[in-house]
Amino acid sequence: MNIHRTLLAIETSCDETSVSIVRAEFLDPPESGIPRRVQVLAHIVESQTSHLAFGGVVPEVAARDHLLKITPLTHTALRQANLSAQSLDAIAVTLGPGLIGALMVGTLFAQGLSFALNKPLIGVNHVDAHLAPALLLSQFNPDVDVGRWIDTQPIEYPALALTVSGGHCHLSYLKSATDRLLLGHTADDACGEAFDKVAKLLGLPYPGGPHLEKLALKKSTLHPLRHKFPATLADKNNRFGFSYSGLKTQVLETIRKGLGYPQGRISGASLSEDEKSEIAAAFQDAAIGQLLDRLHNALNEYSDARTVVIAGGVAANQKFRKKLLETCPLNARFAPLSLCSDNATMIALHSFLPNAGLPSPHPFSRYNYSK
Ligand code: KG4
Ligand code: ZN
Repeated sequence: MNIHRTLLAIETSCDETSVSIVRAEFLDPPESGIPRRVQVLAHIVESQTSHLAFGGVVPEVAARDHLLKITPLTHTALRQANLSAQSLDAIAVTLGPGLIGALMVGTLFAQGLSFALNKPLIGVNHVDAHLAPALLLSQFNPDVDVGRWIDTQPIEYPALALTVSGGHCHLSYLKSATDRLLLGHTADDACGEAFDKVAKLLGLPYPGGPHLEKLALKKSTLHPLRHKFPATLADKNNRFGFSYSGLKTQVLETIRKGLGYPQGRISGASLSEDEKSEIAAAFQDAAIGQLLDRLHNALNEYSDARTVVIAGGVAANQKFRKKLLETCPLNARFAPLSLCSDNATMIALHSFLPNAGLPSPHPFSRYNYSK
């Protein structure tokens, strides 16, 4: 006999207010593994637009916006799923990392809901959760997949995992879905953050990653000597870590030079379109190059790895996907495009993963922290 669990998940760690309702089907007993199939009953992601005028996320504005939206979006999700709150089995919420005010709105709302409904509350690590869609699903298109049962497609372990987004850049070795060894992380800026900052320097709107990718597309061949930024790190002993601060400064200096060395704050918006797209393409190559360089170091060291898994906002970058597929000797699984950036469906999917090594009499009990 199969058993079903339905949970409502909430994600408010940055500038997306997201609520999802996901049902999972497990073999009985549930501790035997990951769900056999999942049904996303509601998938709501509202990206905040109030930050656009500031060119970046303003934490206080983000928290206030979450506060305005979280209750109506939860009602909308329940309506879409055609469920009463009482029929949920649990509530899942992002505990962190993220903006503290934004997280407080989500976690306090989820705690209130859990208390009022007398349902378990599952606290989820946001960086871990980014990987869940890639570990379970090969694709997910909200336009056609919401409401449908989707068979899960587990990857082969051990695996190497890259989580690359605006706030984090993590390289891990996975013995199983939840048994993770962190090999390296960024020493300063995350990769997506560098995309955003370079985009801003070039006069592009926030969030800059997708805009910069589009600008770089205009420059398919680069002059070999102009604007070549390094894709490796100066510290050769650092094989699995990341650093984007130096690359960002190099781009800044290049733009300053292109503008004739003005003092103070600068904007590359007035550079020629050709020059801007050349800088964007050279930056993108170096940023992606660093990710691939670190991944290949890990592939050499962890030769038993059978799969490579990529997730996070930057995993949406098409050039990164193409380069990785061209150079990766293993099967590579990217998070579905619709689940790369922050969303509550990944929080729900992560909550369904088994916690290797710990007995789990109930698929949710291992994460229960509130009762
Ligand atoms: O995972 P995410 O939504 O938020 C964090 O957890 O940080 O990632 C957002 C980041 C932003 O920095 C955004 O510019 C970047 O992902 N991003 C991209 C692309 N799409 C989103 N970076 C490069 N190329 C893209 N196509
Ligand atoms: Zn994220």
